[in-house]
Amino acid sequence: MAIVCKSTAEIEKMRRSGRAVREVLNLLNSLVAPGVTTMDLELAAEKKIKDMGAKPAFKGYYNYPCVLCTSVNEEIVHGIPSEKRVLKAGDIVSIDCGVVLDGYYGDAAITVPVDGSVTPEVRKLLEVTEASLYKGIEQAVVGNTVGDVGAAVQECVEANGFSVVREFVGHGIGTKLHEEPQIPNFGERGHGPRLREGMVLAIEPMVNYGKAATRVLEDKWTAVTVDGSCSAHFEHCVAVTKDGPVILTK
Ligand code: MF3
Ligand code: CO
Repeated sequence: MAIVCKSTAEIEKMRRSGRAVREVLNLLNSLVAPGVTTMDLELAAEKKIKDMGAKPAFKGYYNYPCVLCTSVNEEIVHGIPSEKRVLKAGDIVSIDCGVVLDGYYGDAAITVPVDGSVTPEVRKLLEVTEASLYKGIEQAVVGNTVGDVGAAVQECVEANGFSVVREFVGHGIGTKLHEEPQIPNFGERGHGPRLREGMVLAIEPMVNYGKAATRVLEDKWTAVTVDGSCSAHFEHCVAVTKDGPVILTK
């Protein structure tokens, strides 16, 4: 399968999907607090998605059981919401949500502190991970390459002493959740597929406080750091246009 470029009208539809995802994330962000469970977030998201007339993108995707991925502390991505997982003071939680609206997908993630007692070190991990996403987005311009995006993310992360995850990557997105090309959060400038007008990329740096190594838990989904250090994750969908990168999940 080749990389699918989207028309202006399609990008307009994806803007609506992106906006819907952002509304869910904004709601969940306001609910995060000590004592809240990741299942509380899941149920709130499920209701919000339904109320907006959208459909969840993750539930049933390769049999994934939920509408959200909620990944706490050393969990990197694909944490499964559970009524047993109670958020506590000092935790961080990555919330990843995807929806389909009018046939087009939107996908975005944030990582937030559960309360004010998160350490300055972990706070910096969150700041740098989000900053690295914006460094990647800046490179999403016509004529650049996928390697330019990855290199920009990687440089930002490593300059701050953190590690980029290799086993999970961003992706093209459109009428499917995952389209070509893959968007690694590392790479070499000038390498990889060339970016063209109309491509839409889900750029999603996953950054570990310690070493880059990952493993997947017995539930077959939850990816965690091998060294037990905290991990952060931010994601936006970005259209490559002749006027530069356009963030659809604002
Ligand atoms: N944002 C992630 C991704 O794009 C979440 C996918 S979870 C899955 O890969 F359950 F849908 F696989
Ligand atoms: Co994604």
